[in-house]
Amino acid sequence: MKHHLALLLASTFVTTSALAAEKTSAPDGQKLHDAKCLGCHKTEVYTRADHRVQSLQALSHQVENCMKGPAEANWNAAETKAVVDYLNTKFYRF
Ligand code: HEC
Repeated sequence: MKHHLALLLASTFVTTSALAAEKTSAPDGQKLHDAKCLGCHKTEVYTRADHRVQSLQALSHQVENCMKGPAEANWNAAETKAVVDYLNTKFYRF
């Protein structure tokens, strides 16, 4: 019985540390953004009074366009989402 409990505890530990590792390896939106997206415009385009992007969906779309087009970033879905989240949290706040 004691033995079983130890095994149970051990497997719980493995599961939680695997989850923690996954969390810390999530893409860093700001880092991705700063590496690829400051060549043409600075972050002021996001905060200017007449900024074009007016919704989260439009932001997603715009990031996708700038990423695939001029920035040639080729981010995967998780990386693209991380950048959208970064821009939304830091600048747009939809
Ligand atoms: C080759 C140049 C270029 C690069 C590199 C670039 N962009 Fe853009 N981006 C533009 C232009 C041009 C506009 C339109 C500016 C305007 O309307 O005055 C724009 C506009 C935007 C807007 C909308 C701003 C608003 O008015 O709300 C967002 C968001 C944006 N870019 C995100 C990105 C992201 C994310 C990246 C990196 C993947 C990136 N851009 C890289 C050229 C670029």
